[in-house]
Amino acid sequence: MVTGGRYGFMRDVEEALLDKIFDTIKGKFGEIRGIEVGVMGAGTTRGIYQRGKEIGCPVQLVGIDFEQYRPNPTPDPDYEFIAQDSMDAFRNIKGKGYNFLFVDGCHCVNHSMCDFLNYSPFIVVGGYALFHDTALPKDGVEQGQWPQNHSYAGTPDSVLGVREGLKKLGLLQGYRSDWQLVEEIPSSDGLMGMCLFQKLKDL
Ligand SMILES: C[S@@+](CC[C@H](N)C(=O)[O-])C[C@H]1O[C@@H](n2cnc3c(N)ncnc32)[C@H](O)[C@@H]1O
Ligand SMILES: [Zn+2]
Repeated sequence: MVTGGRYGFMRDVEEALLDKIFDTIKGKFGEIRGIEVGVMGAGTTRGIYQRGKEIGCPVQLVGIDFEQYRPNPTPDPDYEFIAQDSMDAFRNIKGKGYNFLFVDGCHCVNHSMCDFLNYSPFIVVGGYALFHDTALPKDGVEQGQWPQNHSYAGTPDSVLGVREGLKKLGLLQGYRSDWQLVEEIPSSDGLMGMCLFQKLKDL
């Protein structure tokens, strides 16, 4: 069930995974340095800053979305927002040492794959990439039935294909030597669901 709770539009079980990731990141890196593709109402963004305060862990985030989704007021004085299609915004990422990537922008197969390819190089070894809406098709509900206005070049619209993208990238099957699947939160309704990957090495 979607709560629109502590981290935006995700279920309680998904929020619990984010809590766990940030505890781990605090222990390993001492700070959360994240890139979030798809900010919308900044529920996830503000949730991460809030969680950082709760567990005593500094947070620095970069968010990518279109200008109308620039969080106002800014979640933090150091928060950075890049108002561009995610296919292009990666060129404007300045910092280094990011340890968390949240892929929750356009959920079409092309954007979800390119978001991983373009942003995962910014993540340090040992860091994490979390994809939202990785649900398995079940009971006749396919991911592909959900429309995605992916906003890249305007038209045509596409459909939800995050899971298909994860397979095409070889991430889901464990074919890659640079990233490995750590945990999946399944979902039975074609939407929601999460896959968490950890970076093992730079390519
Ligand atoms: C599911 S929402 C993000 C929700 C957010 N993580 C939360 O729960 O608070 C997806 C966002 O991705 C953005 N988006 C869609 N296509 C995009 C693109 N091509 N580049 C950047 N952002 C995009 C949309 O504008 C939308 O705000
Ligand atoms: Zn798209």
